[in-house]
Amino acid sequence: MAAAPEPVDPAPARAEPHDDANWWREAVVYQVYVRSFADANGDGIGDLAGVRARLPYLRDLGVDALWFSPWYPSPMADTGYDISDYRSIDPAFGTLEEAEQLIAEARALGIRTIIDIVPNHVSDQHPWFREALDSPPGSPERERFWFRPGAGAEGELPPNGWQSIFGGCAWTRTEDAAGAPGEWYLHLFAPEQPDLNWTHPDVWAEHEDILRFWFERGVAGVRIDSAGLLVKDPQLAEETAESGPGEHPFTDRDDVHEIYRQWRAIADGYAEPRILVGEIWLPDAERFARYLRPDELHIAFNFDFLACPWEPDRMRNSIESALAAHAPVDAPTTWVLSNHDVTRPVTRYGRADTSFAFESKRAGTPTDLERGHRRARAAALLAMALPGSMYVYQGEELGLPEVEDIPFDRRQDPMWLRSGGVDPGRDGCRVPIPWAGDRPPYGFSEAGADRPWLDPPENWAPLTVAAQSETATSMLSLYRAGLRLRRATPALGDGSLRWLPSADAVLSFARGDDFACIVNFGHEPIELPAGTDVLIASNDLEGGALPQDTTVWLRQANGEAPSWDGSTRPGLSKG
Ligand code: GLC
Repeated sequence: MAAAPEPVDPAPARAEPHDDANWWREAVVYQVYVRSFADANGDGIGDLAGVRARLPYLRDLGVDALWFSPWYPSPMADTGYDISDYRSIDPAFGTLEEAEQLIAEARALGIRTIIDIVPNHVSDQHPWFREALDSPPGSPERERFWFRPGAGAEGELPPNGWQSIFGGCAWTRTEDAAGAPGEWYLHLFAPEQPDLNWTHPDVWAEHEDILRFWFERGVAGVRIDSAGLLVKDPQLAEETAESGPGEHPFTDRDDVHEIYRQWRAIADGYAEPRILVGEIWLPDAERFARYLRPDELHIAFNFDFLACPWEPDRMRNSIESALAAHAPVDAPTTWVLSNHDVTRPVTRYGRADTSFAFESKRAGTPTDLERGHRRARAAALLAMALPGSMYVYQGEELGLPEVEDIPFDRRQDPMWLRSGGVDPGRDGCRVPIPWAGDRPPYGFSEAGADRPWLDPPENWAPLTVAAQSETATSMLSLYRAGLRLRRATPALGDGSLRWLPSADAVLSFARGDDFACIVNFGHEPIELPAGTDVLIASNDLEGGALPQDTTVWLRQANGEAPSWDGSTRPGLSKG
């Protein structure tokens, strides 16, 4: 029986976005990386006008909210995560007025807007940092950052041994106007991203004001960049191999929670409360969940799931431990397969090691894209069926692969630049979206436009939105159908799941009274429980059985008692 999705009507638009104050607990949030989404003015860089023109596409995809990676004025040393003005829009993207129009237009289509806030660091072109450089050591202007004299007889050594997350030393030495060396300043990322000092009241006040600025323009929430890194050990102690909970000198220090309590009070102060979404990479699930206490952030990205290999036991553990960690704080879990920092899923799942690691460890390893694609489809339906909210990164719904052969002189990511070319960096998942046509740039820009900031590959014609819209078996059709069904199925979204008995190579769980999701990781096709209707499957069934690397959603036929509860064990019982 062929169970690939039928051509589908687009998901019905919500007349109004979920009025429910808990919309975020089960929302599907689509990440827009503006630079690569759609270029309306032909300069090779995506822009807000491009997004506005494509809002119907996003409505039809069936997403509840958009999260925009930073759109502010920026020298783009880290493609926008180095902000020089938090209250405006980069001219390459458009204007503040356009952003306001975009927020309103999206909302009229039932789509909320979440923006990216970067509180750990600013651009080295931010007025505060320019003032600090122009002011002497010990001046109040320098106290908003981490300026320190160097170690060594002449101050020629960095103040401590902290390493930048992008590689190399986390300190850069300043020079005065005459070129004489001076103090060093801290940057956990690139030197163009000096870290703010969150013990300084100006830093608190400024961010509270920035939040209000955007909340008053209608944004529904903020995604908080590097949210666990803001507070540093004032003694600047060295990193040790084993630090206890909260003892690391710059990650997950206890005082950081006070910042988010303050932000939550601001977010809750609106008639329609705003939401706070944290980017927190922490292996310790209990420490992670602390950020989600009722008076702190609403939700945070589930990176454990994102990084999890495509293996049934690891997947089950990841899902179980995420649900268990979130339960005590009554926060919903997020399900994330990709973002602008990580390898595209069809590539990752096609490698021998399917866990996520930065490309320095994986690039160039043999990749079976067909297998990766099949698994990415299965993972998408799995993620859509799990309790909580889902985050979709642009291009994931098209099954775009990681672009691994970007010429060296075109790469832009500071991870590539700072590693001296050792780490290929993250440009491979940031290539412009292919919309239509047979050749690059596939409608990203109109004909005659400037070359895109990264070139889409020559073989992407079958991956365009236009091509995939014509094909019932495409990744785009699967996402549209899956999101439509998710929205139409009350058991999905927020809530709980019940694991069902199954073979080791199978994940099987029920949601509500009459919905089940089964994922087969094993070689052997498995029979489906009797008396069930297939709602959707990520690939064709084989003679009614669920083949390897395939997910199926089932509904109990005729409203009978579910047959999957114990009476069958997918993968063990036949027929
Ligand atoms: C976050 C962003 C990443 C950026 C970094 C520094 O991890 O997702 O893209 O480079 O923070 O702001």
